[in-house]
Amino acid sequence: MYIVLILTLCYNIYMSFEQLTRRMRDANMIRERSVHEYEKDLGIDVVDLAVQGLMRNRKFTWYDMCCGDFNAGRDVSYATEGRALCVGVDVDTLLDDPSHEIAKNCRIELGDVTTYPLPENVDLITCNKGLRYIDQYYGRAVMLDTVRNWRDALPAGGRLIAEATDEASWYRMPDYLIESFDSENLRWSNGCQVIDITT
Ligand SMILES: C[S@@+](CC[C@H](N)C(=O)[O-])C[C@H]1O[C@@H](n2cnc3c(N)ncnc32)[C@H](O)[C@@H]1O
Repeated sequence: MYIVLILTLCYNIYMSFEQLTRRMRDANMIRERSVHEYEKDLGIDVVDLAVQGLMRNRKFTWYDMCCGDFNAGRDVSYATEGRALCVGVDVDTLLDDPSHEIAKNCRIELGDVTTYPLPENVDLITCNKGLRYIDQYYGRAVMLDTVRNWRDALPAGGRLIAEATDEASWYRMPDYLIESFDSENLRWSNGCQVIDITT
């Protein structure tokens, strides 16, 4: 029993980028949610936030961690006529050529979100239905550190919205995650428990 546990732990700790990509490719999941579906899940209207940010600061930078095919990014790019910068980060995407912009000022960066270095000027960070995989493949400490790093990367006035509920709905945000963030930062949206932090 202990040997199996230790082997599983080692397997996950030493997982390479390629192994993680392969696992994600094999996993049965939805990767192409629109910005309207993000609104239902996360309880925020990214288009509205982008338009307000552009009016206030003449720029809006959105990073979507575990973005999948990043249809939501494309929606925001169209709605803002490419004035908002939309960057999605994912270890895998089903798009044929993710190296090009998928819409004006909107691109996917292939990377592991647990180590991805965020720039300093991000207005909004989201993670829709991705945390559960970090929890599953890297474990609790890495998932918590990842969310904290995202929060710490935000400048004053920036916002982080992340949720951990799985589409199969058997997975609920674990208590340790809830306990790790101030209860004022937690709310429910469309059946998902959401961490909502404004710096
Ligand atoms: C259920 S999909 C959600 C995609 C998108 N956010 C949506 O709502 O349509 C979860 C995504 O998380 C990505 N993912 C899981 N672990 C990751 C990691 N460590 N780094 C980057 N992406 C990861 C998967 O490749 C997958 O695209």
